[in-house]
Amino acid sequence: MTTRLDDAALDQLLLQARTHRAWQPREVPDGLLKELLDLMKMGPTASNTLPARIVFLKSSAAKQRLKPHLSEGNRERTMKAPVCAIVGYDLKFYEHLPKGMSPVGGFDGNSDLAATVALRNSSLQGAYLILAARALGLDAGPMSGFDNAGVDNEFFAGTDVRSNFLCNLGYGDPTGMRPRGPRFAFDEFAQIL
Ligand SMILES: Cc1cc2nc3c(=O)[nH]c(=O)nc-3n(C[C@H](O)[C@H](O)[C@H](O)COP(=O)(O)O)c2cc1C
Repeated sequence: MTTRLDDAALDQLLLQARTHRAWQPREVPDGLLKELLDLMKMGPTASNTLPARIVFLKSSAAKQRLKPHLSEGNRERTMKAPVCAIVGYDLKFYEHLPKGMSPVGGFDGNSDLAATVALRNSSLQGAYLILAARALGLDAGPMSGFDNAGVDNEFFAGTDVRSNFLCNLGYGDPTGMRPRGPRFAFDEFAQIL
């Protein structure tokens, strides 16, 4: 039913794709952000619980609200990115499931388990976001260098949503990009038993 993607697609998704920290001054249309989430949301999560919540910061006013919570190294590059996505997760995801879906039990009164499931599955959804962005011809710059509590207070106050990581999106400027970091050889991080 499916076939192997061609080499150009593998290059665009992973083999040649890089993390970007500098950006061309080129707008990302809202329609493309909607298409991005239409792709990303189809990636699998446990019991289809879909805990990720995404906030796209696109206006300079929205990015200014983020600015004080960024680490110094991430600050200016994020202000110059066309879009910064906050990848968050809903700690009460089990109460907010897609329409038509039956309730998922086992989480009420077990907030540790709910938090673990929310973090794990929103991280997966964040990875789907990065790959979906690359599939649509965008570049991504994920970041954990920020104050989560500050971002949560600024953008998610009074809700059950917490920030997981940030991801700049746009069209990367590869000028001055650092060399590709090394990766493990198969035997260094994997076994086939
Ligand atoms: C969850 C996550 C958090 C990251 N946090 C930061 C960050 O705060 N600042 C930064 O400059 N890069 C950050 N990075 C970028 C990584 O260093 C980069 O993706 C990695 O070195 C691989 O680079 P490559 O995609 O160019 O091979 C982060 C990446 C991920 C996935």
